[in-house]
Amino acid sequence: MTPKHFLDIDALDRKTLRFILDTATKIKRKGRVPKGIKPGAVLAMIFEKPSTRTRVSFEVAIHELGGKSIMLAPEDMQLGRGETIADTARVLSRYVDVIMLRTGPHDTLIELAGNASVPVINGLTCRSHPCQVMADLMTFEELKGPIKGRTIAWIGDANNVATSWVHAASRFGYRFRIACPREFAPSPELLAWAREEGADIEVSEDPREAARGADCVVTDVWVSMGDNDEKRRKQLLRPFQVNREVMAQAAKGAIFMHCLPAHRGDEVTAEVIDGPQSVVWDEAENRLHVQKGILAWCLGKESRARKPRNAKPRRAKPRGARR
Ligand code: CP
Ligand code: NVA
Repeated sequence: MTPKHFLDIDALDRKTLRFILDTATKIKRKGRVPKGIKPGAVLAMIFEKPSTRTRVSFEVAIHELGGKSIMLAPEDMQLGRGETIADTARVLSRYVDVIMLRTGPHDTLIELAGNASVPVINGLTCRSHPCQVMADLMTFEELKGPIKGRTIAWIGDANNVATSWVHAASRFGYRFRIACPREFAPSPELLAWAREEGADIEVSEDPREAARGADCVVTDVWVSMGDNDEKRRKQLLRPFQVNREVMAQAAKGAIFMHCLPAHRGDEVTAEVIDGPQSVVWDEAENRLHVQKGILAWCLGKESRARKPRNAKPRRAKPRGARR
C-alpha cells in the first residue's frame, strides 16, 4: 500500500487537508497527543538546503508527539558520495517511521517517495512548500475565520510558496490574486491545472490592484534558495514591495503574512512586517502545530492520500521486511 506521503497540497483531497488543520488546532488548544501514533516514532530529516523554522519545528513537533528525530546532512551521508536517493529511501525505510526532505529539484522528492515504504514529507523544494502554506491557512482561519470566499493577495515572486498557495486555492475556495513581474509569473500549466480544479486565480502586474479589498497580503523573498540572478530579480521585483501604500488598498483589518526569513527594505518594509497588521510570528509558531497535524496524519490511520502524480513504482517489499 502507498504510504501516506505529504508531498504537495495538490496531491491531497480537501478532507485530508482539513483533517490535518483540525488536528493541528486541537493539539495547539488542548496539547494532547493524538491516538494512533506509535510511541517513539522516529522522524529522519534530510536538509539539502538551510532551514531554521522547518528544522526546529519538526524536531520539536515529533519530540512533543512522543517520538524522536534524526538530522541528516547529505555531506555526512553516503548520499553526498553518490549513493542514490532511491537506495537511501529503501535503507531509511527499514530504520525510521517517516522521512522529511528539503531539497532543490522536486524530482528528488518524488524519487525518494517513490522508493520509500514509509511516509515522506516535503520540507520545501524549488516547486513548492506545502507545510508552510498549511501553517498559513491555519493562521488565517485562527485570526480571520473560514478562508472560503475570502481574498488573498500575493505580491512578488510567484515562487514555491506561491505555488502551494495556488494548490490550496483549489481545495479551500478562496480568491487568490497574484501581482508579479511577467518574468516571475506562475507557469501556464499551474494556472491551467488550478482553473480546471475550480480555483479562482487572478494574475496581474499591479500590486495595488491585487491588494484592493484583500483580507490578507502575502509575500516572500525576491531571491529564493537556489536562485542565482539576484541583481535582475531585485530590479524587476522592486515595484512589488509590500509597503504602507499597498497595505492601504487591503480591506480594513487585513493581515500581512511572510513565511520568513524576511528582507526588510526589499520585499516588505520594516513598517509593515513589524507593524500591527503583521502576523508573521503567529505564522512561524503555527509551523510547529501544523507539523504535528501532518505527522499525526502521516503516522496515523486516517484516510490515505491520492497517489502522488509522477510517483515512481516501488519494488516489492522483501520477505521479512520490518514494514
Ligand atoms: N519558512 C521556512 O520554511 O523557514 P526555514 O527556511 O527557516 O525553514
Ligand atoms: N521561497 C523561499 C522560501 C524560504 C522558506 C526559498 O525557497 O528560499
